[in-house]
Amino acid sequence: MTCLRIDRCPAILAKWLWHPLGFVFERSQIRCPPPAALGPTLLPWIGSESGKAMLLRVPSLTPSLPPPPLPTRPVCGIFGYYNYQVPRTRLEILHLLLTGLQRQEYRGYDSAGLAIDAVPMAPDAAPNAPAPPALVVKGPGKIVDLEALVSREMAAGGHDPASRFEVHAGIAHTRWATHGVPSTANSHPHASNAAGDFLAVHNGIITNYKALRGFLQGHGEVFATETDTEAMRMLEGAYGLLVKSRHHPGSLVACKRGSPLILGLRGSPGCVSVASPAKGGEATRGAVAACAPGARPGAWECFVASDAAAVVEHTKRVIVLEDNDLAHIWAGGYEILNAEREGDGDGIEAPRPVPRSLQTLEMEVSQIMKGGYDHFMQKEIHEQPESVLQTMRGRVKFERSSSETDRYRERRIKLGGLTEWLDTIRTGRRIIFVGCGTSYHACLAARQTVEELVEVPVALELASDLLDRRAPIFRDDTCVFVSQSGETADTLQALEYAKSRGALCVGLTNTVGSSIARATHCGVHVNAGCEVGVASTKAYTSQVVAVTMVALALSEDSIAKRDARDAVIDSLGALPGALRRALALDPELARLAGRLAGETSLLLFGRGYNYATALEGALKVKEVALMHSEGLLAGEMKHGPLALVDESLPVIVLATRDAMHAKMLSVIAQLRARRARLIVVACEGDAEVEEACGVDCLQPIVNVVPLQLLAYHLTLLRGHNVDQPRNLAKSVTVSEEDGSLNCSRGKRGKAVPNGFGAR
Ligand code: AGP
Repeated sequence: MTCLRIDRCPAILAKWLWHPLGFVFERSQIRCPPPAALGPTLLPWIGSESGKAMLLRVPSLTPSLPPPPLPTRPVCGIFGYYNYQVPRTRLEILHLLLTGLQRQEYRGYDSAGLAIDAVPMAPDAAPNAPAPPALVVKGPGKIVDLEALVSREMAAGGHDPASRFEVHAGIAHTRWATHGVPSTANSHPHASNAAGDFLAVHNGIITNYKALRGFLQGHGEVFATETDTEAMRMLEGAYGLLVKSRHHPGSLVACKRGSPLILGLRGSPGCVSVASPAKGGEATRGAVAACAPGARPGAWECFVASDAAAVVEHTKRVIVLEDNDLAHIWAGGYEILNAEREGDGDGIEAPRPVPRSLQTLEMEVSQIMKGGYDHFMQKEIHEQPESVLQTMRGRVKFERSSSETDRYRERRIKLGGLTEWLDTIRTGRRIIFVGCGTSYHACLAARQTVEELVEVPVALELASDLLDRRAPIFRDDTCVFVSQSGETADTLQALEYAKSRGALCVGLTNTVGSSIARATHCGVHVNAGCEVGVASTKAYTSQVVAVTMVALALSEDSIAKRDARDAVIDSLGALPGALRRALALDPELARLAGRLAGETSLLLFGRGYNYATALEGALKVKEVALMHSEGLLAGEMKHGPLALVDESLPVIVLATRDAMHAKMLSVIAQLRARRARLIVVACEGDAEVEEACGVDCLQPIVNVVPLQLLAYHLTLLRGHNVDQPRNLAKSVTVSEEDGSLNCSRGKRGKAVPNGFGAR
């Protein structure tokens, strides 16, 4: 036994895109065929490049099957770079585009591509005189592969790396395939036609792409790829799009709905005056004008990205685009138009210019670098003592008042974004936590704390399951949406669903300005700092701390819970130190990983607060070490899993000192009786497990650390990619849901536009 201590595109885009080619579609012309016209609901084979999967047909009990969920778009990263009167060589532009992709590679890494101008714009060229077709380089593989491909193609085509561009608009993309294999054809940018008149990169979910393809093919359009991006003329669903055209040299159009997109500004851009939108919804493009009276637009650069991490090294001045925004960047300035949906969402209002405030990124460049570590996952595991402190900073008052009267009144937890809503939550019917993967585990880890301190019934929901069941949600429910990225499609759709039921929606995210932060009524920022590794580590521990703080805030008026709250707060204070001691186990975990690296399976048992730890530890091992591992509730052991136990299968048991300790000792005894290969995680100095913790509820935060380290070392030893595990992406902005992301406003008024407000 080893013992460890321790929908739709704004109409203007469609017109802007296709007008020069004579492809102006009026909305009324586009009619999607009914589902029945899409072909058979089930195909006999599901094809893939590597082989065919067999589909077994079984009789259906329902007379007719509902239409199947439509395939969705991969999560991807978009990067655009625009320079105006800032001379850049071709090499510099390529470097900027490739670096922008690298910073977002966690979003997708199976194919990548970019498009740049073939020749610099002639200074005397007439506005909108067509430029030669752009150079497009794309293909399957990671960004390093794209880099090599770019070098080869530039050399082969004789394109001088030193060519200077006074004005240039470049676009780039990194992809995560879900349908349409990683291939050169399916890589972005995609072209509107063989001449490459319009080039687009896309991130999001175009849910009606099959219907659109069918419609457009019926009108003689030829599609060159399997992707949905090609069908973007009338979009439904979610998208972030960046488009360049040789008919509009030196300009870019970016628009978004559902998928994140930000503009980073450096230098002095002008604002573009826009005449009042003409009837019919088309905005008239005007001349560049100065933003400030008297000021003239000067040299400037614009960085367009799916994630602030790709922008922060260039500028901290950003504009976060909102849904249905369309940003037009050209001639030294930019304009932002918005085409809101009308009424039931079927119509689109005429696009109108909208003011979007310039924000300052709080992120530091160091957060997106590995520091002295080999991998982001390793760095993020080791950052946990600081990241949990960051989550609590300014929010937890660790010192207690000495006077009894003051103690009665004192507020030891301050969560600015939630203060006004605490009474509503306390008096609500239920608190329902919703999340996916690790974020769900964080809710599970903290559930008991909320139940014990707040005494309001708590339910947990996996976002996809909540949606599948359309589970009943009532207007006196509080739904808490927990997400590191704040962009996870399942969680976002569950949020829209809960809002449509009138529930109070609280967000708990690690990404300021994310879709979930913006769409919820109120919430708490997790403040763990930027997490780059696909395997969530520091966000998990900080999420548990954040939910614990919510429980403490909700119970602040309870005298009966005062002592329990004080104990939890004291333990929160001790948490960074305990995490440091757990991290000191690193060499021991590396040795243990050496002994387990050749195994094919691993079981983890936990119960009480540590059931979540077992699930989370198993998820970490699965997702990065690509080793089968299963987290199990120890109470369920004898109801099935015990049959698996023998001398060869390694079993990790979480038996730190908590209310479940005696039961876990019994579990260990039963496993020993079956000669299990036991690895026990116990508290320092726990004699009973043969060989003094804080309050039980925070112990899982410490216990997960050795499991994270084990997963990390196993991954290295098994030769897998630590930060970019196979088939996974950091922000899963895809869903099998076919519902659109239509945001029906909750009955509690408009969601906070810029996130949760005060901390
Ligand atoms: C965690 O290691 C995973 N990468 C995954 O389970 C993740 O937690 C899940 O996709 C939810 O993401 P979110 O927290 O950004 O919503």
